[in-house]
This record gives sequence, C-alpha cells and structure tokens, in this order.
Amino acid sequence: MIDRKDFKKHVPQVIDWIQNYFDQLEDLPVKSKVQPKDIYKQIPASMPMHSESLEAMLKDLEEIILPGITHWQHPNFHAYFPANSSVESLYAEFITSAIAAQCMIWDTSPAAAELEERMMEWLRQTMGIPANFEGVIQDTASTASLVAILTAREVATDFQSNEEGVPNNLRIYCSSETHSSIEKGVVIAGIGRKNLKKIAVDENMAMIPAELEKQIQDDIAAGFKPTCVIAATGTTGTVAVDPLKEIAAICKKYDVWLHVDAAYAGSALLLPEYHWMIEGIEDADSFVFNPHKWLFTNFDCTVYFVKDVDVLLKTFEILPEYLKTRTRGLVNDYRDWGVPLGRRFRALKLWFVMRGFGLEGLQQKLRGHLELNQYFAQKIRESESFELILEPFLNFTCFRYKGTEGMSEEEKDVVNEKLLNIVNDSGKLFVSHTKVRGTYVYRMVIGQTYIEKRHVDYALEVFQEAIQSL
Ligand SMILES: Cc1ncc(COP(=O)(O)O)c(C=O)c1O
Repeated sequence: MIDRKDFKKHVPQVIDWIQNYFDQLEDLPVKSKVQPKDIYKQIPASMPMHSESLEAMLKDLEEIILPGITHWQHPNFHAYFPANSSVESLYAEFITSAIAAQCMIWDTSPAAAELEERMMEWLRQTMGIPANFEGVIQDTASTASLVAILTAREVATDFQSNEEGVPNNLRIYCSSETHSSIEKGVVIAGIGRKNLKKIAVDENMAMIPAELEKQIQDDIAAGFKPTCVIAATGTTGTVAVDPLKEIAAICKKYDVWLHVDAAYAGSALLLPEYHWMIEGIEDADSFVFNPHKWLFTNFDCTVYFVKDVDVLLKTFEILPEYLKTRTRGLVNDYRDWGVPLGRRFRALKLWFVMRGFGLEGLQQKLRGHLELNQYFAQKIRESESFELILEPFLNFTCFRYKGTEGMSEEEKDVVNEKLLNIVNDSGKLFVSHTKVRGTYVYRMVIGQTYIEKRHVDYALEVFQEAIQSL
C-alpha cells in the first residue's frame, strides 16, 4: 500500500503513462478489437492476498486493459455522441479525486454547493435559459429526465403518488424519436410503459404538435391524466429539434409538465445563433443538457434546470434526523434535488473548463466543429459513392453508401451495414448507425475536442477504401 506522503514519488509514472497514452492515441485502434471474455479471462479469479506494486498494475493496464478500451478521445471517434474531455477538465478531475469529498449537503462541503450554484447561473445566462429557472448537476441525462418525470407525476397527482402509490391513468408523451431514457424513466416512475404515448414525427424527424394535441384530447376524453410531455432539442438518432414553442403552448393549454431533453444539442446554446432551438423555453418546466457530451467536460456531468424548485424539493425531500443541519433553508442542500443522496464534486470540472476556455474559447471550438461538419457534408454531396439522407445539422451528418446500379433498398441496407462493419473493424475509425424511416444510415458526429480537418478528410478516405473491400 502506498503511503500518502509518498504520493508525489509515484506521480511521474502515472503522468508519464497518461502523456504516452495521449501521444500514441492516434495510432491505437479506435474501437476495441477484443472478443467477449478476452479481458475477463486474463484477470485473476480472486483478489491478491498481498500488496502489488504500481509498476505491476501499470504493466497490466498496458497489456490487458488497453486492448479492451474503445478510445472515446480518439480524434477518429465519430460514433454515438462524443463524451469529450479536455486537459482542463482532467486537471479538475485529479483534484476532485484528491479531495474526494462527498457533497450531499451544503455542510459536507459548502464550496461544492456554492460553486455548483454559480456554475448553473453562468450556464443559464449564456444558454438563454430564463432567470426564473434554477440549475443542479446530476450524473446523467437519464437521471435528470427521471427526476422530471417523477416531479411531473407528483404535480399531476397532488403529491399523492409519493404517499399512496401511482394511479394507472397518468399519460406521458414524447416523439417516436425520443431517447430510450424516457421510456426507462416512465417505467421506473411506475407510470407504466403502456402510458407512454409516442407521437409521430414529420419529414425532419421532429414531433408533430397537432398529433400531440390530438392524443392529449383523446386521452382526456378517455379519462387519462396528461402528466408530462418530453420535447427533444436534438434527438439521438438524427439530432432533430422538436418545435418547442408550439409544444409549450399545448402544454400550457392542458396544464401539462414540459421537460426539454437537450442532452446533446444543448451545448450549441452557448452560441447565440442557436437560441432559436429553445424558443418557448419560458413555458417549459425543466430542461436537461450534458456538458459531458459536447462541452469538453469529463463524464459524468449533466445540468438540469427546473422552473419551480419548490415542487422538485417537495417530490424528493426526506429529512432523517442525521441529516438535519443548522443551515437548512439558508443554503442549497442538493441531496433534495434528485435521486441519490451522495454526490461527487462535479462543479469543479465545469469551473475549470469554463475558465480555462473562456466563453470565446468554447464558442470557437463549437463553431470549429460546425464548420468541419459542413465541410464533411459538402464532400458527401460531391461524392459519387455516398449520399446525404438528411440535411446536415450542427456537427452531425447522416449519410449512406449509394450502392451499385440496380440494387434494391433491402440490398442497400445490407451492403451499408457490411461497409460500416469493415470501417469499424479496421480500427481506423468508429462511426455508428441508425435507421431513418426504415433505412440503414450512418451517423457521423464531429465533436472531438482535439479534432482537425485532416481527421475529417481521413474519415472519408477510410469509407472510400472500405468500398474496395466489399
Ligand atoms: C437526446 C438524449 N437524451 C438522453 C441521453 C442519455 O444520456 P445519459 O447517458 O447522460 O443518460 C442521450 C444519450 O445519448 C441522448 O442523446
């Protein structure tokens, strides 16, 4: 076991490992090539009886663990949505780990609570969220949306679900394109999967407000209680933006909680030219976005804004004797603002990122990604082999291989899947897929912190090359 006074002695080994990792990152296969249980079989079946050296652990890290890592910080990682990081965020994570505070209430680290309060204000102002919303950091967007659904459930049932159990007539609404975390939240909240109504989308994959209103009216007529609508600002499949203003008007008319899931695209709100995406936000009740996706802040870090903090607290507050403090009511005890009691000191990495980059630096990075995406999309437009499926939006391009003369749509799907497997198995690139109106398509996301134009050129080259090996 290493004594804390010897901490510094071993730091160079760890830091050298990290610096080497960064230096060789581009040479590593983006997507891990291991087979199921390859790693598991190399780990001893029981814990060691005696202390092992840091050297031995770092050796195994290199030889056993690293081959089983998919490199999310690789500049050729374009899959899913990024979980990008930055040096600033990493430094803060070191310090957070060193302090290792558990920030459940103000008393257990006043600075963590008050820095969090300020960080939420910084983001709120910059992102165009109204001043009557208050923010709190959650672990993930899944948790934040669950918090929204639970709060909406309590508001709709006059806080009786917490007391008596959940009635079976509550209804939740989202589009057919909304992230699966909403369905999970509805299930966990005891509302029942059958009470989640998925509303049809238009040609841009955005919710059709008239369909939402019709469903709400039908439900009211059938004795259901419309409880919560989830509008997406940037869906997972294709970054579609639901028309918030129209949806907000419907929610207001029928007195339904409106939660906005901007988990990914929320970062773009740091750019004033994208504030149109949340026009109508003043009539929403809650909003979530993930700095741990596209804001250079290590996973995990989710920001949740809520308009009426009182109903949030009323939903989650439980006060056992051992958590009573003298500062209650004077400060934010964030344990009451969500599901877990224990909380990491996540505000520190946001502080480091926002100060280290400055708003100007953050905007420059984001705009750089938007430009690279336009560049990539233009290359696809000009390409003989590929075609755009949707107009590029933000840093996301949806495209596919055109296939060869005479291929049916089914054959195109098969060949596109094959091509993507070749690309991803090569280790040169990692891109993921989705289906748009039943068609197999590629999702190219350009959101890596340290990505450059050459990586975007390379991505196209790898796809072109892969066609030769079909
Ligand atoms: C739109 C959207 N909402 C929610 C989530 C869930 O995010 P988290 O992993 O933070 O729970 C995702 C993840 O990609 C997402 O894209």
